[in-house]
Amino acid sequence: MTLRVRLAVAAALAVATVALGLSWAAFAVIRYELTHQLDLELTQAATVATQQQGGEPPGVLSGQCRYLAAPACTQLVPADPARDPRSAVAPYLFPVTPAVREVAAGQRAAYFSTTTVAGFPARMLVTPFRGGTALQVVLRSDGVDRAVRQSAAAFAGLGAGGVLAAGLLGWWVSRTGLRPVTRLTATIERITATGDPHHRITSHAATGRRRDEVSRLGESFDTMLDALERSVAAQRRLVSDASHELRTPLTALRTNAELLAHGDRLTDAQRQRAATALGRQLREVTGMVNDLVELARDEEPQALVERFRLLPLVEHAVTSARGHWPGQAFTLAVGPGAAEAVVPGVPARLVRLLGNLLDNAAKFGAGRGPVEVRVALVGDRGETLEVSVRDHGPGIAAEDLPYVFDRFYRSDTARSLPGSGLGLAMARQIARAHGADLVAREPGPPHGGGACFVLTGLPVAP
Ligand SMILES: Nc1ncnc2c1ncn2[C@@H]1O[C@H](COP(=O)(O)OP(=O)(O)OP(=O)(O)O)[C@@H](O)[C@H]1O
Ligand SMILES: [Mg+2]
Repeated sequence: MTLRVRLAVAAALAVATVALGLSWAAFAVIRYELTHQLDLELTQAATVATQQQGGEPPGVLSGQCRYLAAPACTQLVPADPARDPRSAVAPYLFPVTPAVREVAAGQRAAYFSTTTVAGFPARMLVTPFRGGTALQVVLRSDGVDRAVRQSAAAFAGLGAGGVLAAGLLGWWVSRTGLRPVTRLTATIERITATGDPHHRITSHAATGRRRDEVSRLGESFDTMLDALERSVAAQRRLVSDASHELRTPLTALRTNAELLAHGDRLTDAQRQRAATALGRQLREVTGMVNDLVELARDEEPQALVERFRLLPLVEHAVTSARGHWPGQAFTLAVGPGAAEAVVPGVPARLVRLLGNLLDNAAKFGAGRGPVEVRVALVGDRGETLEVSVRDHGPGIAAEDLPYVFDRFYRSDTARSLPGSGLGLAMARQIARAHGADLVAREPGPPHGGGACFVLTGLPVAP
């Protein structure tokens, strides 16, 4: 049974129960009132008979006995049937049961009953009378019975109508109540079938108009789909960028490899050159693939996060840069308090970030003055750390500035130098994974010129 049917049945049952219950209660009240009215009339007639009569013989006493209509017809019955002259001479008008004799004998209390007299349905009161007799008071009840039957029919119709209305109401409630759920389900099924996270559940017009649980669920689901779509798009872009960028170096690799395959036709010098080129290209492709794998990773694994002083890490990065670039001077300046600052993060990744910046500074600013590294606390209470790497090279042209952090982007002037354009993209990704950012800033005085990259907003551990 679907949820919709279950809901419809439950709602219909609830309403139908109420409708039937109310009809039955109303009918019971009306039937009681009608019968009670008749009983009151019988009691009154009995009282009147008691007041008026005295010492009469058994038999019919008074009233409209022919039609059994008001005033009520009464009859006196003695207690002892053996000494009742009437039963032998002529039969009584109303049935005389042992119960009636018991009332006459005072062994039983007065009672009402329903009987049939001369083919008419009637209501009878049997009550003790003077001198060991019982008084039977009888009124025709077919009028009352008809009224009871009519009201029974009316309430039965009303109940049936109620049940029908309940069914319709249940169906309507389940239909309108579950419509958003149906839409949600349909969208999810469509996404599952097509694998396309482009669909959305809440239309923009519907948002804000209704804020029930289901619409909130839909919105959360949409938010999740947004994130999923963005991540899928980013992965696709990475893959397509990568396949595009790998094509050229792989072609060069293949050319050199084919060249070497026909090594016998080459001179020693040619073969040597081809082999060297092959080795360099292989290293480049390897580096690129490694960088790509790192870029495809979105977040730092939590297990590797630790707290450490940043300064020794920066010193280590500068030292290894000095090793890579023996002809290049590197200076390190430390702002007040920065030496002791502890940061949470993944040390290996931050070294990688700084290595990329130092590598760029040395590569692009080669031989034009020292690379200046500076570590400083920022904020009133030193909440964050900043690490800047500044060189005195040609700097970054204004038209390149918006793109230097893009994957595979290299300015025209940089193409003569080795590299794949992934370094800054990866450095920025690492910075953001640490809750910080990486930006290019206008290098300030004293010297002017060159490029300045700043790792900024790195949170300091308390
Ligand atoms: N210090 C700098 N001075 C001048 N231009 C720079 C500097 N750093 C980066 N750039 C420009 O930004 C581009 C992107 O830098 P990025 O580090 O991402 O790539 P790359 O150094 O060319 O290659 P890779 O780092 O992958 O070996 C560079 O090609 C260069 O044009
Ligand atoms: Mg680089």
